[in-house]
Amino acid sequence: MGRFGWKAQQATLLSFAGDASLNEMGITSRLFPTENAPNGNLELLKKLDRVADPEDQFDPATGKYGIDKLTDFMRLLSPPPPLPVTASTGFGGKIFLDIGCAHCHTPMLTTGPSSIPALNGQRVILFSDLLLHDMGSLGDGIGQGTATGQEMKTAPLWGLRSSRPYLHDGRAATVEDAIQAHDGEATNSRERYRRLSPDQKSLLVQFLMSI
Ligand code: HEC
Repeated sequence: MGRFGWKAQQATLLSFAGDASLNEMGITSRLFPTENAPNGNLELLKKLDRVADPEDQFDPATGKYGIDKLTDFMRLLSPPPPLPVTASTGFGGKIFLDIGCAHCHTPMLTTGPSSIPALNGQRVILFSDLLLHDMGSLGDGIGQGTATGQEMKTAPLWGLRSSRPYLHDGRAATVEDAIQAHDGEATNSRERYRRLSPDQKSLLVQFLMSI
């Protein structure tokens, strides 16, 4: 069980950086030293790829490899800043709790011990439990490790106002569409959302656009 990736398949940011460097950019590293051949064709790979593995470069100026620098970048990015709380967003937040959204979108987690003071024991308001849930028809149909095609890691909700479109395949243009697509373990919460009055729905959306 990892913290990172749609399927909670990566335990550390370093392994995520190594995996993405290989699988998204074709750069082999000390963690992932074996190149993916095009459609498994090793002969073609030999013709196209003349750089010896691992390709990740050591940078004498920093004493780090590319995947270590990518890791630092991700680790030290600050969270998107929330908007100030207003009466409307306060009410919306209460509705969020009342209808069970926080069952998976846990408002706050605390970081573990870190030698970097800015990361040590910090309260992080991310709105995710970082765990897998069976989302029924909302799943991506892709099994990975022990995670099934229906299981997805709870998406953090911080910065929602600047991250549309929503859901793993971008199918939801609005947060309302994203909520309506919740299924499986989230069915109960989705049904409670559907029973809200138009005013309550609007307060909930104002809250979601503020976090
Ligand atoms: C059973 C767990 C669960 C519950 C309950 C739940 N969610 Fe989610 N939510 C998820 C998962 C998992 C995803 C990621 C799904 C995906 O990307 O396909 C998600 C994604 C979202 C997204 C899209 C985020 C993005 O960046 O794409 C929004 C918005 C959202 N949820 C809001 C809500 C609201 C509001 C409620 C309450 C009505 C709620 N959720 C209840 C698990 C849950």
